[in-house]
Amino acid sequence: MRLIQLREIGKTYTLGEVDVEALRGVSLDIDRGEYLALMGASGSGKTTLMNMLGCLDRPTRGSYLLAGEEVVEMSGDERARLRNRKIGFVFQSFNLLSRTSALENVELPLMYSPHIRSGERRERVLNLLKKVGLESRLNHHPSQLSGGQQQRVAIARALANEPPILLADEPTGNLDSRTSREVLDLFEQLNREDGITIILVTHDRDLARRARRAVVLRDGEVVCDSTDFARATAAMHSVEG
Ligand SMILES: Nc1ncnc2c1ncn2[C@@H]1O[C@H](COP(=O)(O)OP(=O)(O)O)[C@@H](O)[C@H]1O
Ligand SMILES: [Mg+2]
Repeated sequence: MRLIQLREIGKTYTLGEVDVEALRGVSLDIDRGEYLALMGASGSGKTTLMNMLGCLDRPTRGSYLLAGEEVVEMSGDERARLRNRKIGFVFQSFNLLSRTSALENVELPLMYSPHIRSGERRERVLNLLKKVGLESRLNHHPSQLSGGQQQRVAIARALANEPPILLADEPTGNLDSRTSREVLDLFEQLNREDGITIILVTHDRDLARRARRAVVLRDGEVVCDSTDFARATAAMHSVEG
């Protein structure tokens, strides 16, 4: 069974009298353990597609099977439950709670899982912060951490519920190039050692190249889906040109 199967996914936003077709018939299969870079010019539909994949929003048309379950027909509550089990999100802006320690930020998503006892919860959080290399920063607040450290807290938080899929929408957009490479090192480790399926949106071709497959969007359509990053880059160029 495919982990992710999208068929002819369309998404139309309605702004007053105007319809914006953000996705126009996207079909995509993604297997467990893949590491995929989603590329495309600004406005090509990357974030819209990530919102669909992450069950944050539902498509206007098409079919989305996530681990064999049809997401399109689910209620909001059903989608939220599926999302909590299957998806971790990492954003460009970290989205950490500012007056809260690294430890508490990572612990927060587990507060909604009543079956996890507090001792087990603490242990899981400590292991996650250790995995991202922040065991010496447990009680630091976001303002006391560098950008790269904040993003690593956000990654640990995304993994709190042990999701099989990590969605990262321009996670290095606010980071310098060295720190960006460190975050990508961590993604690579999570993919290789823990088998986490990673879908990474990035503008940076050198970072994208570290994935194993590239999907390029243009005007809401997939124009390239390849393991050959030279081809993907060429498709990007024709987007920009
Ligand atoms: N909530 C929204 N309402 C209306 N239009 C939107 C909304 N979100 C995105 N769009 C439009 O959909 C298109 C794709 O946007 P987006 O998915 O954010 O692209 P990207 O992430 O590749 O920059 C753009 O034309 C954008 O203006
Ligand atoms: Mg975007």
